[in-house]
Amino acid sequence: FLTLDDFNFDEKRVVLRVDINCPIEPNTGEILDDKRIREIRRTVTELINKNAKIVILAHQSRPGKKDFTTLKNHAKVLSDVIGKEVEYIDEAIGSRAREAITKMKCGDVILLENVRFYSEEVLSDWKKWEGITPKKQAETNLIKKLAPLFDYFVNDAFAAAHRAQPSLVGFSYYMPMIAGRLMEKEVGVLSKVLENPERPCVYVLGGAKADDSIRVMKNVLENGTADKILTSGIVANIFLVAMGYDLGVNEEVIENLGLKNQIEIAKELLDKFEDKIVVPVDAALNINEERVEIELNKDEKVEHLINDIGEKTIELYSEIIKEAKTIVANGPAGVFEKEAFAVGTEEILKAITNSKGFSVIGGGHLSAAAELFGVADKIDHVSTGGGATLDFLAGEKLPVIEMLKESYKKYKSQ
Ligand code: 3PG
Repeated sequence: FLTLDDFNFDEKRVVLRVDINCPIEPNTGEILDDKRIREIRRTVTELINKNAKIVILAHQSRPGKKDFTTLKNHAKVLSDVIGKEVEYIDEAIGSRAREAITKMKCGDVILLENVRFYSEEVLSDWKKWEGITPKKQAETNLIKKLAPLFDYFVNDAFAAAHRAQPSLVGFSYYMPMIAGRLMEKEVGVLSKVLENPERPCVYVLGGAKADDSIRVMKNVLENGTADKILTSGIVANIFLVAMGYDLGVNEEVIENLGLKNQIEIAKELLDKFEDKIVVPVDAALNINEERVEIELNKDEKVEHLINDIGEKTIELYSEIIKEAKTIVANGPAGVFEKEAFAVGTEEILKAITNSKGFSVIGGGHLSAAAELFGVADKIDHVSTGGGATLDFLAGEKLPVIEMLKESYKKYKSQ
């Protein structure tokens, strides 16, 4: 990638795309967790110190969702985070925004309006790379109006790197696309664990979005980087069903989540990698909101909802995690929002922080749990990405990263 070290930003106008999509209280608009805003501090302050004029583009949520809001509060939080006034402009491409941009002084920071307020940004086909060329995105009004105002495009939006929207890739057609410091850090850490981890390398995969976890599992088993996979949550239930356990009502949950097709994939993975995939030996059932632990065995049907892993599984997984040199975790082990079923997630997170291995966690849910249990600071890398991190670990090509590579090829000699 091209990085902030490769250019002289003195007096230059920089368009900086970030991902500060945050959890928001829909009624008050209050930002509930500002991690993503804190994580872009390094890039923003470095550009200020290098005497650039910085215009930030970002999104919040998607059209139709309750937290699809303006970025007014984001500007306030960002001002606090960088210790300097960030001017918020409630539009992105109109004459008022463009005039403000042309009048900026060195070191000024402007945050433009939620870029997904503009339909071109959210038109069909942007979720994946197929059918989209950066040229097509470069020809949108959004980019055509803004691009002439800038010298450089810095992309620090790792959490949106799996999107091919105009604001994420379009500018690269007109100017160098440079990785911000957060982008560099995320891609550096995740590439290392994916390509060249210290061993043993253990993946701890849980949560309800089991298809995402199973995509990751398939990739890291097939490319040989995972030595063990510890399953929990719905992911574990899918593997237990694939192994012939009768999980009763839990099988309906799998079906209702649209995940029945994952059982076949689980069977195929078990055929090839049985020795690497570990499933729970016991479970905590939710019986009228009470925690009741049972041992799992193939001859007994499970009559209630599984809401957590049991004590023996916690012990077994903690032992394996203790010996690991690399740990990658995604998704909670149980319904940690309910106190009675939080112990599995909490203990696994503690085992991860107590292990000497290098730890990486991804996905919003597990990072929220790590915050809740006060262990987030002890994790070596809490990725800012949700879908982007999972796509990366699943070995998929991410549009933003592909364009960063292109830009490097195009501009490296200049
Ligand atoms: C995220 O929260 O994962 C990113 O901001 C991307 O959001 P999206 O899934 O709406 O594109």
